[in-house]
Amino acid sequence: MSSELTHITIDRVGLQRRIDELALISEAPAPVVTRVLFSEADRRGREYVRRAARDAGLTLREDAVGNIFARWVGSEPDLPAVGSGSHTDAIPNAGRYDGVVGVLGAFEALAALKRSGFKPRRSLEVVMFTAEEPTRFGLGCLGSRLMAGTISVEKASSLRDREGRSLDELRAAAGYSGPLESVRLPSGYYHSFVELHIEQGPVLEREGIPIGIVGHIAGPSSYRVKLLGEGGHAGAVLMPERHDAMLAGAEIALAVERAAKSSGSPDTVGTVGVFRIEPGAVNSVPFRAYLEIDLRDSRMDTRTKAFEEIRAAADEVCSRRGIHLEFEEINADPPAPGDQKTIAIAEQVCSELGLKSLRMVSRAYHDSLFMARVSPTTMIFIPCLNGWSHRPEEFSTIEHIASGAEVLAHTMARLSA
Ligand code: GLV
Ligand code: MN
Ligand code: MN
Repeated sequence: MSSELTHITIDRVGLQRRIDELALISEAPAPVVTRVLFSEADRRGREYVRRAARDAGLTLREDAVGNIFARWVGSEPDLPAVGSGSHTDAIPNAGRYDGVVGVLGAFEALAALKRSGFKPRRSLEVVMFTAEEPTRFGLGCLGSRLMAGTISVEKASSLRDREGRSLDELRAAAGYSGPLESVRLPSGYYHSFVELHIEQGPVLEREGIPIGIVGHIAGPSSYRVKLLGEGGHAGAVLMPERHDAMLAGAEIALAVERAAKSSGSPDTVGTVGVFRIEPGAVNSVPFRAYLEIDLRDSRMDTRTKAFEEIRAAADEVCSRRGIHLEFEEINADPPAPGDQKTIAIAEQVCSELGLKSLRMVSRAYHDSLFMARVSPTTMIFIPCLNGWSHRPEEFSTIEHIASGAEVLAHTMARLSA
């Protein structure tokens, strides 16, 4: 290892304990972790994060949408800061590592640098982003979108959850007030941004490589489809007379699969993860269906081609079946390239630490997708068991987590100079 890297020691026992303690703050019994934005568990999770940040000796600030910023002020505090961070909200039936490793791991990275006697020139800051997961409002990365200014305040204010509650109502109930305009970061706020995250895929584990450095984040898009047909008695309405909203939805779901498979890019993925029908009775023809489509790609041209096919299929299916169709875009974000200079520093740190690294595409989206719009950005991935994520069995070893935190610490230290 080069003599340039300060020796730091990640407190593995303490970091694992904090990950396990936060996992116990959940809407569902262990091992399931569920922390939906502004639920009781999310609010208690936030309290835990504040405490952990203070324990790491960081100074707290929170914005109007609940992004939590924990800062180590550098010797030149007016310079743009070096950022890191991730999220602690968790989808229903999730595990304990997604997002959490990037928040608690970053606190530990900074604490380890402090213990080593390192003094940053630029401030170092860890963000816990509000609502990376789309569970409450159907839209992911709400906090980072507002920070980057890629969602308008009007659109954010118009968001409603399934019970019809607005973002403004829910954030007020969670103790966050003030204009959403104020969430947007001033230009040049971050000098650079590096997010630590579990891979959520099988590559690193399969290859036996401890660190992935993200060169590119795939672009996500999602759509809401409302279908209105005609209901009736399942025995009495004869087949030629039917306008079955569920069957129209089923055909659209198959069109999503077809379009993704035939786009010409192996990176195109299409999923119908939400499919609800009404009235939901065995002896009644479904008169209403509601679908949400998730379509992603590392390329815009093939994603657009797949989208156009899905859109055309939806029109064709609905006109053939006599179904009223509403097709609405929730988000359609371009992919984000990582910053070559930041990537090179992270890769150099890995090589000096003797940790093999692999340049990767992030197929999941992350708050870094939006930080990349306003700052040079990359991500550090660590392996997770079987590539599992978004399920209670999600697991990364503390050795891999500690290696990720160590790479993060040294990368942030270099970037702060
Ligand atoms: C993030 O959780 C994603 O769906 O990629
Ligand atoms: Mn997730
Ligand atoms: Mn995540």
